Amino acid sequence: MRFITLAAALLAPMAAMAVSKPVVEDDGAINTMASKKGQLYVKLNSASKLTDKDLFGKSDPFIEMWLEKAYKHRSKDTKGLNPIFNETFCFYVRSGQNKLYVRAVDKDTFSNDKIGDTTINLDQVFNSGNVGPQDYKLPKWLGFSDNGSVNMQMQFVEDTSS
Ligand SMILES: *[C@@H]1O[C@H](CO)[C@@H](O)[C@H](O)[C@H]1NC(C)=O
Ligand SMILES: *[C@@H]1O[C@H](CO)[C@@H](O)[C@H](O)[C@H]1NC(C)=O
Repeated sequence: MRFITLAAALLAPMAAMAVSKPVVEDDGAINTMASKKGQLYVKLNSASKLTDKDLFGKSDPFIEMWLEKAYKHRSKDTKGLNPIFNETFCFYVRSGQNKLYVRAVDKDTFSNDKIGDTTINLDQVFNSGNVGPQDYKLPKWLGFSDNGSVNMQMQFVEDTSS
């Protein structure tokens, strides 16, 4: 009984939130809840000052990025802490997706080590069509300092079909 009451108390506000979600209309105003679909091209240029995870030998960093974890794009393997990638990845953004996840990983013989990661909000590229090239920092810990950065540029081509 107690559980049912608690569950109902927790679910009621969630249901209310779902119902009150505004309908997205293009009235020319800046829409903070942008929901768009289309092609997103991400050009990964380089990374710099990546934290060295390898106590022995050299760093072999690669970058992975995704909108949803089941469909990750992975760069080629590189060497060193300031690697050049020059690779372009294409994503299809489905309505409701508005974050790009980017992670730098050190490829290791036994287990890959995460160097750092960041989440990029796509509202800016949805609104302007192009962003960058610019550096995206990979926060070290609670945003204090960073474990390097990734330089990328993005282009979005909206799919206006319904
Ligand atoms: C990366 O692209 C830049 C500009 O297009 C070019 O100058 C550079 O040689 C390329 N580097 C590599 C390693 O492919
Ligand atoms: C950044 O690197 C340090 C040192 O290797 C590590 O302890 C920390 O977990 C890294 N931060 C993230 C967010 O991966």
